[in-house]
Amino acid sequence: MLLLSIETSCDETAAAVVQDGRKILSSIVSSQIDTHAFYGGVVPEIASRQHLETILPVIEQALAAAGNSIADIEGVAVTRGPGLIGALLVGVSTAKGIALGRRIPLVGVNHIESHLLAILLEQEVEFPFIALVVSGGHTHLYEVKGIGDYQTVGQTIDDAAGEAFDKVAKLFGISYPGGAVIDRLAKEGDPLSIRFPRPLLHDKSLNFSFSGLKTAVLTHIKNHPDSQINDLAASFQAAVCELLVAKTAEAVKRSGFKRVVVAGGVACNSGLRGAMQQFSQKSGVNIYFPSPSLCADNAAMIAVPGDYYLSQGMSSLDFDAVPSWSLDLISAHLQGKTN
Ligand code: KG4
Ligand code: ZN
Repeated sequence: MLLLSIETSCDETAAAVVQDGRKILSSIVSSQIDTHAFYGGVVPEIASRQHLETILPVIEQALAAAGNSIADIEGVAVTRGPGLIGALLVGVSTAKGIALGRRIPLVGVNHIESHLLAILLEQEVEFPFIALVVSGGHTHLYEVKGIGDYQTVGQTIDDAAGEAFDKVAKLFGISYPGGAVIDRLAKEGDPLSIRFPRPLLHDKSLNFSFSGLKTAVLTHIKNHPDSQINDLAASFQAAVCELLVAKTAEAVKRSGFKRVVVAGGVACNSGLRGAMQQFSQKSGVNIYFPSPSLCADNAAMIAVPGDYYLSQGMSSLDFDAVPSWSLDLISAHLQGKTN
């Protein structure tokens, strides 16, 4: 099936044309970051308005880049949630308009589910696997037994990992979102120079906590104003990566699964990639990271579950955008436990 997929859950307006949920023919991402950076974070109302202005040109670009016209498209998949309600509504309404106008099937999919399946656009990964989704809004560990079969086994109890990166970057005076800049600074710093705390490291749960870590960085800067920014960045990043790898390793041990998929914007982090590779070498567990362009928000990833659900006949025009939507609800719904 030739699918048009649409993503507008936060601050990227994105559209892609994907064949059979696996082959990317085009993937266009228009970022609003420069607009929001001025305010130090995403302003929901501005995001919605900018999606409205950009969505149709982005779809046209995606079709042109794939060498297709709208008449060639056989189905539409759109992010239904989680995300900013006003932003989601722009994508959902546009997708409904196209599906209605063309009389083709439509499916609304979960943004987080799409992140953890994005790897399938690049390589075959056998189920089951542990998925670590680390983005600006999520830090979750899932047991994934198949498409639509997810169980949350751990999650952050306060800030998401990306949020922690962005908040620490802000302490350094780096504009939003500063995660990638911390990554660059950390390359020139000593990760052992400052011993920041590892919250919940020895806790029995697979949960994460990052807000205390950000406060520890702030306190250190106040007490040691002459600290090197590179050492601060490297030591902070080392603490985050140790926590992410330790809890992932524990999830692997408890599940007995032999594969790990790391997804979401923070999966671009070079320290995390290195620490996960080390874990892989020690344990023999296979670790999969999508390319950076598929870790960050994009529409191609939406086509992976989209194509699968449409192939199962799960087309509908009758759905709303949902700002919060846990993956466990998808499994329950598919097993007929909810509607
Ligand atoms: O998945 P994503 O593009 O959007 C959300 O759904 O949130 O993730 C964005 C997050 C931001 O917090 C950003 O700072 C972080 O990913 N990020 C990074 C890196 N690249 C992006 N964090 C650490 N190191 C990076 N290289
Ligand atoms: Zn995302």
